[in-house]
Amino acid sequence: MPTVTFYQSGKSVELNQNSELLDLENTDQCELDFGCRAAGCGTCAIEVVAGLHNLNPKNEDEEDMLDRLDINGPNCRLACQCRLNGDITIRSLG
Ligand code: FES
Repeated sequence: MPTVTFYQSGKSVELNQNSELLDLENTDQCELDFGCRAAGCGTCAIEVVAGLHNLNPKNEDEEDMLDRLDINGPNCRLACQCRLNGDITIRSLG
């Protein structure tokens, strides 16, 4: 199962293949905050420190919100829009 590692704490959580990162909320080790869950608030902004290729590509709504937040670097994502296909390490920007 793919592993999500939180860069700040070094803790890891396993999720099923093709899980949404939103599923982190169903674990007792979620270190991200979520708001709208629909690319509309930016609360869940993250930097993907490792494993960017293990996430789905950005969609248009996500690109628009990251532009508005002025954090649309290649490693910046909205966790609520991400699906997991392998191990990643993330750092919360929210
Ligand atoms: S929770 Fe609002 S943008 Fe992700």
